[in-house]
Amino acid sequence: MSDESILIVDDEKNILSTISMALKSNGYAVRTAESGAKALEEQAAAECSLGVFDIMMPGMDGLELLRVFKEKWPNTAVIMMSGHGTISTAVEATKLGAYDFIEKPVSREKLLLTVKRAIEFRRLEKENIALRDEVRQKHDIIGESSAMKELVRRIMTVGNSQSRVMIRGENGVGKELVARALHNASPRRDRPFIKVNCAAIPHELIESELFGHEKGAFTGAAAMRRGKFEAANKGTIFLDEIGDMHLDTQAKVLRVLQEHEFHRVGGDNTVKVDVRVIAATNKDLEAEIKSNRFREDLYFRLNVIPIYVPPLRERRADIPLFARHFFRQFADEYGRPSKQLTESAVEALMDYSWPGNVRELQNFMERLFIMAEEPVIEAKTVYGHLPEGVAPDDWRSDAPLGSLKESMNLFEKELIEKKLKEHGFNISETARSLQLERSHLYKKIKAHGIRVP
Ligand SMILES: Nc1ncnc2c1ncn2[C@@H]1O[C@H](COP(=O)(O)OP(=O)(O)OP(=O)(O)O)[C@@H](O)[C@H]1O
Ligand SMILES: [Mg+2]
Repeated sequence: MSDESILIVDDEKNILSTISMALKSNGYAVRTAESGAKALEEQAAAECSLGVFDIMMPGMDGLELLRVFKEKWPNTAVIMMSGHGTISTAVEATKLGAYDFIEKPVSREKLLLTVKRAIEFRRLEKENIALRDEVRQKHDIIGESSAMKELVRRIMTVGNSQSRVMIRGENGVGKELVARALHNASPRRDRPFIKVNCAAIPHELIESELFGHEKGAFTGAAAMRRGKFEAANKGTIFLDEIGDMHLDTQAKVLRVLQEHEFHRVGGDNTVKVDVRVIAATNKDLEAEIKSNRFREDLYFRLNVIPIYVPPLRERRADIPLFARHFFRQFADEYGRPSKQLTESAVEALMDYSWPGNVRELQNFMERLFIMAEEPVIEAKTVYGHLPEGVAPDDWRSDAPLGSLKESMNLFEKELIEKKLKEHGFNISETARSLQLERSHLYKKIKAHGIRVP
């Protein structure tokens, strides 16, 4: 059960009543609790959409309460408040997932503004989640470049037919994803999709893997076993890395394609199957044919409809989309807030050649997501994680940035960091030297993700 109320938690009764009155008079539904334990009971009875927690409380303190909330009720936004606020507590609270931090004595205006923003934020977040799920279901394959749009169109057309397809492309471009999309776009979508990695299975085992074997076919064959072709009956078999298949096996696969039947290893009975074959390789098959490592007749049988997936460096327009998509994906996976990229960070990603293609980019984004602590990633962090020598010679971290706003942001961040260091991380003094309100400085420190020891 969930309702749109706000749960206020503070051990001081008069604070509870002041705050709840302020919020009630602005139309919010409010509940209160005098301790962390009571708050947990309240929340278990009815899930509130926003919590406002005091930090210093006897028994379970506000940070501990926040921790439990984030674990059990991740959708509830939480605002922390404290009169004994030190910047490190504020930073810790944000790390634990607090939406914001307000100082005591709480100003009515500040309270109402922060609450309004938090509720709006939560609403947007909910909408985003719903939207994302919808997008994911409809299009497993993402891409904005004209090459990708063309590819998706092709998948829709070809998927509908029963034709054999040969998918070509470098490592990590998304060949397997395309094969699955073809299956999902076909009338066989509710039947099995069976993948065989021809490069990974030792030659002695591949025939039994593909065609199965009869009982006693070889030492250790204690019972009859069906192979992948039988498992894929009425569905699709995906012969991945077909360029690595042994010539003997190629001959047997060719026979299945021609006759739609085969023998299990060590057997005489013919087994009939109805299977659509999709193959993929990153090898130069034409060269393999010339050097007699790949059968030409099999090549023609398989290559009825060729699909080429271009390398990432030939469709750079997809890079920003992928980068953000993967950040969201890892945020979901790790249950942490997503990260943003500055324009110049995106440019840095687009400049790199990505020899390992989408998979390399995906791994790179995961590393960045885990290693970088700041919520907004800048170009210098991207270059810091890319192989050495990738940053262009004329690139410096103080080089002019994409937009005025971005440059000003970076300047502000660096200035605050410098002043904080100058004043031994004393917030009041730093605020004074910058002629800022303490609370205003807190906000900026948080917004820039500046670490304060
Ligand atoms: N257009 C895309 N949209 C979303 N994810 C993608 C896209 N292309 C590739 N990926 C992701 O990149 C990774 C690599 O893709 P995939 O395994 O399909 O590549 P591959 O060409 O089969 O690679 P290999 O040749 O190394 O086997 C996967 O995690 C896949 O989900
Ligand atoms: Mg693959």
